[in-house]
Amino acid sequence: MEYTLMHKSIPVLDIELDEATGSVQKLGMVHQIEHLPLGTVDRHGIVDRTALNTWWIDRCIPASRSGVQQALETLGIPTPQLLLARCFGLSLSDQYWVRLRDSDLQWEEINFFDHPFSEDIGDVLLGKASKTTGFDFRSPDNTSDGFLKKRWKIIDGKRCLLKAGSNPFMQQPFNEVIASLVAERLEIPRTPYTLLWDSGVPYSVCEDFITPDTELVSAWRVMQSMKKGNSVSVYQHYLNCCEALGVSGIQHAVDQMIVLDYLIANEDRHQNNFGLIRDANTLEWLGAAPIFDSGSSLGYDKLPGQILSGQGIECKPFKKTHAEQLKLVSSFDWIDFDRLSGSEQEIQAILDQAGEYMDKARKDAILSAYASRLQRLMELSQRQEQEDKLDQDVESNLMRNYSMEGL
Ligand SMILES: Nc1ncnc2c1ncn2[C@@H]1O[C@H](COP(=O)(O)OP(=O)(O)OP(=O)(O)O)[C@@H](O)[C@H]1O
Ligand SMILES: [Mg+2]
Repeated sequence: MEYTLMHKSIPVLDIELDEATGSVQKLGMVHQIEHLPLGTVDRHGIVDRTALNTWWIDRCIPASRSGVQQALETLGIPTPQLLLARCFGLSLSDQYWVRLRDSDLQWEEINFFDHPFSEDIGDVLLGKASKTTGFDFRSPDNTSDGFLKKRWKIIDGKRCLLKAGSNPFMQQPFNEVIASLVAERLEIPRTPYTLLWDSGVPYSVCEDFITPDTELVSAWRVMQSMKKGNSVSVYQHYLNCCEALGVSGIQHAVDQMIVLDYLIANEDRHQNNFGLIRDANTLEWLGAAPIFDSGSSLGYDKLPGQILSGQGIECKPFKKTHAEQLKLVSSFDWIDFDRLSGSEQEIQAILDQAGEYMDKARKDAILSAYASRLQRLMELSQRQEQEDKLDQDVESNLMRNYSMEGL
C-alpha cells in the first residue's frame, strides 16, 4: 500500500508498506528531508530505508510486551506491526503519521491530542475487552512502547498513561510515585506519577508531557544521529550528539538523571527511557525530556535480602554499575540534601498503600537500602572526581525482558 509519511501537516516522504508484514518496503519521493525522524538519513543526505524501517517497527507495541500475544489473538491481528497503519501510525509521544497516497486527510482532523480515541485496544491490552469483534482500532495504544501492560486514557480531559506492574510484587507503580517524589524534592524536571487502583490492581498514572507542538526523541534516536567512535564512551557519545544537534543543558540533565537513578537503584534506564524534546513545527530542540519510567527500581523484582545487600542490581544506560555511573556526574553542587529530609517517611507512606502486595520485611528493606544510598551519596558528593572508564560501558541497549526472568 502506498502512503506518505507525514509530520503533522507536512508531507515528509512517500513510502510503500508491505501489507503482510507492515514494514517499509520501498521509498518514494522525498518532500521534506529535515522532517524525517532523527537518524534515518545517512551522511550523504540519502534516506536510509533500513533505518527508517527500524524506526517504523520500533513504533509498534514490542513483541515482548506483557500479554501482547493474547491481545493480538483477541484482535485477530497476526503481528503488532499491522496495528500501526490501523491508527495512521499516530501517537501521543510524537507527531508522525501515515496517510494513504490518494487521501487528503488532515492531521487536524484525526490527531489524538485534540480528538478522543477508541478504548477498545486499551481494553484488550489490559485483558478487559467486553467484545470479541467490531474493534475500533483508532487508538494511541497501537503505537506505545515498553514492556509493561499499559493504556492511554483521557481523564478529566487530560491524556494520561496508565501502566501496570510486573508479577509477583507489582512494585513499579509505587516506584514511579516514589521516583517522582524524590525528583521533586531534588527539583529535577520530572513527569509526576500518581497511583490508581482498578479491580484490585495498582497502576501508575502520568499525564502526557508532549503537546500537539512538541515531540519526544529518545536518547537511542539521538545517538543514531552520529557514528560513535570505538574509543568514545556511550556517555560521551550522547553528549557529543546533543552538542552537534545544538541542544543545551544536557550534561546537567544527565547529572540529575544519574543521581536520581542511584538513589532509587534504577535498573532499566535504557536509551528509550530518556531523551530530548523538540518543537515539532520548527524542529528546534527544547532540551531534555522530563524524567519518566523509573519503575524498575528499588529492588522491584528482588527479595528483601537482595535489596539489602544490593547484589545483582543492574545499571544502565552508561555504565554497568551505579558506582561507576556516578563517577560521570560533573557536579553535585545543585543537590540540596536538606530537601530530602523526611523523604523516607513519605516513601513509607507510598509503600503502605501497596497493601497485600508488600509485606513489612520488603518495605523495611527498601527503606533501609534507600537510606544507605542517600548516606553514601552525601559522602561521595563531598569528594568525588569525575571519571569515564571505557571498560565499564554498557555494551547494548537492551530493555528488560521480565518474562525471561523466571519469576
Ligand atoms: N508521560 C508521557 N508522555 C508522553 N510519552 C510518554 C509518557 N510516558 C511514556 N511515554 C512514552 O511511552 C513509552 C512507554 O512508556 P514507559 O517507558 O513508561 O513504559 P515501560 O513499559 O515501563 O517501558 P520499559 O519497557 O522501558 O520498562 C516511552 O518509551 C515513551 O516513548
Ligand atoms: Mg520505558
